[in-house]
Order: sequence, then C-alpha cells, then structure tokens
Amino acid sequence: MTKSSVISGFYKLSPKERLAIVKDFAGLTDEETQLLLQTCSLPIDVADHMIENVIGVFPEPLGVAVNFQVNGKDYLVPMATEEPSVIAAASFAAKMVRDGGGFHASSTEPVMIGQIQVVGAKDAQLGKKHVFDAKAAVLKMANDQDPVLNSFGGGAKDLDAKIIETPLGQMLIVELYVDCRDAMGANAVNTMAEAITPLVEQLTGGHVYLRIISNLATKRLAKAWCTVPKESLGGQAVVDGIAYASAFAAADPFRAATHNKGALNGIIAVILATGNDHRAIEAGAHAYAALKGSYTSISKWTKNVNGDLEGSIELPMAVGLIGGAVKTHPIARIAMKILGVKSANEFSEVLAAVGLAQNLGALRALANEGIQRGHMSLHARNIAITAGAKDELIDLVADRMVKERKVRVDRAKEILEELTK
Ligand code: MEV
Repeated sequence: MTKSSVISGFYKLSPKERLAIVKDFAGLTDEETQLLLQTCSLPIDVADHMIENVIGVFPEPLGVAVNFQVNGKDYLVPMATEEPSVIAAASFAAKMVRDGGGFHASSTEPVMIGQIQVVGAKDAQLGKKHVFDAKAAVLKMANDQDPVLNSFGGGAKDLDAKIIETPLGQMLIVELYVDCRDAMGANAVNTMAEAITPLVEQLTGGHVYLRIISNLATKRLAKAWCTVPKESLGGQAVVDGIAYASAFAAADPFRAATHNKGALNGIIAVILATGNDHRAIEAGAHAYAALKGSYTSISKWTKNVNGDLEGSIELPMAVGLIGGAVKTHPIARIAMKILGVKSANEFSEVLAAVGLAQNLGALRALANEGIQRGHMSLHARNIAITAGAKDELIDLVADRMVKERKVRVDRAKEILEELTK
C-alpha cells in the first residue's frame, strides 16, 4: 500500500496524537515512540562518547513536515529546529507543490573531493604530470585503505591536479575523487588523502602539508524542481512577486544570503534531526553560491507560459546514512526511520526538495502578506508560554496579542491575569 504524507489537521493534534500517526507511517516500535516522548532521550553516556568534555545535553524540538512528495514517493520529514514557523511553512509549501505534481529531484554520484596540498615542488608542472602518469598507482594506494567501501562499489575513482598561485607562492593541489556511497565520507576521504601522501611527495618532489576533504562538494550535487499552479499560490500577483524576489536574490548578494538562509532553514533542520554534519552542508551551500565569482542564490523561480510558478534548487549535499552521529544518536536513528530513505542519494534529493519548499514558503509570505503575520502568531505562543500560560490559555493569550499587535511578555502577563481572574 502506498503511504500518503497528506495528513489534514496534523498541526491541531497533540504531540502524542501526531506521534501515533508517524508511528503508523514509519513502522516505529513502542520503544522508539517512548524514546521520542522523553524530554531527554540522549543518554549521558552516549553523549559522553560523541564529543569531549560533556556536561549535559541540549534538547531541541523535533517536528515533522507533512505533504512532501518527491519523485512520486511520500515522505514525512523530521525536522529539528528552534525557529517557529519553519515546519508549518515547509508543510504548506509542499502542499502547494503537490498540486503541481510534487517535487522532482536528481543527484550525482556521491563523490567527494579530498585535497592534498603540495608545497615547494621544484617544477610544479612536471610534478603534476608525474601524478597523472601514476594515477593508477595513486588510486590503488587510496583504495587499499577502504576495502569495505570498495565492496559496496565506492572508493577512489579518479584524481585531478591543479597549480594555484597563493601569497606564499605556487602550490600544486592534488584532488582525489572518492565515491562515498552511503557515507558522508569525511573519514574515508581523509584517510585516503593521508595514505597517499608519501607517494605524492615522491612523485612531485614537494612537501605535503594539508590532506583534507573539501566541503565544496561540486561532484556531489542534489537538485530539485517543481511547478506550482498559480491558483494554489493565491493568484498571478503572487507568482510575479516570487519571480521578482528570485531576480532580486540572483542579482544582490545581500538578499541572496537571506534567500539561501531561508532554504537552509529547512535543509539544516533535517540535517540536525538525522545527526548529519550541518556545518559541512552550510559551508558547501554558500561556497557553491559564490562559485561563479560573486555570491548569488542557490534557487531560482520563474513564471512559465501558463502563468504558473516554476522553481529549482541545486547545491552540494554531502550527507550519509551511516557513520558519525547518524547511527549513534538514538533520535537521529528514529528520524532516519521516519524519513524512510534507502540511500544517501535519495536522502540528498529529499533534502533538496525540502530546501526548495522552505524557500518557496518564505518567498510566498514575503511576496504576499509579509513574513511577520505567520511568524507573529507562532512567536506569540512562545511569549504566552514565557508569561506562564498553560494548555488552552496559550492560544487565547497569543491570539489576543496578535489581534492587538502587541506581542510582549508584559502584555501576555496582563491578559493572562485577566483571563484567570
Ligand atoms: C527567516 O528565518 C528566513 C527568511 O528571512 C528567508 C527569506 O527572507 O527568504 C524569511
């Protein structure tokens, strides 16, 4: 039976009721749902093995975005974020995209780049030639480091070398292309880059300093695209507004930074929920946005001949299903199960779709009523809670503050006092 991620009124349910639906969708066990409901589901001894100098854990809300359909498959998308309205906006945008046939997505092979910095080669051109001539031996030496990755069809597949001019003179940079399959790949790539160092030094006559993965993963890209009917968006003027917003971001780095941040709001929330490396994704996204010489947007929206909105996004997506916290963090494991992706490629495609959805949600609001209205009502709930409101009083206090356009703790306290008198 095909599962649908369209769950009407999901946001109106209690966390327990929502979890019951997710349990059914993702086949979670009782143990897993119990773990999700605990305020601290990361045992201190697990945390202590994850990083250094542990003194506690830092919990963040975990939600689920609904309505996502990517390449014909439905997904409930786990998202960890501290920002109100992100999950609501992603779900809303995914619904509009669904009206236009859902998201389409593709990705390249999961190839990461490892860089080996050679300094002081007498003849960098000759060193480069020697590296190319010995390519088979270099790749073999790299692959000898990771028979498991090789057995899954991954491993060092190719290399390149370039000469760069720096303030400290010429350097020869050897780049190893490693297919990381379902791993993010930093460990495999760094191990390989370190292992081939003696050979690279011998071939180039230079000294190797840095041996490290590049987060500008231009060989591991994910792409998503969609068409949104103008009726779903609220009319032609909204389509035009989003197209103008996109043109603004394409032309102005100050706007592009915020535009891209909006897309990353969604991507990073999923990355966090699944225990992946969010700094790697952010670094890659921003560097990719600046690759042509000036910083620009990673997504684009235009109006098509029918007056509907067409959008696309492309960015490096170095994510894994294995390794790092993905397997050690108990909640990350459950988040992965909820998402139900079968490969790092599929994962990267869903992430690109989430980024496009999040970007669309922000632009639709910005080009329409403005971002504050949606933000305000959610922010107001936080303020009401801060003022001490509980249960049904939270919404009553929040609604009053939004109506009055006075979303402040002091006002929340006054309203609360009035309502509980
Ligand atoms: C806020 O977290 C994100 C936005 O600023 C994104 C955007 O401006 O496109 C709303």
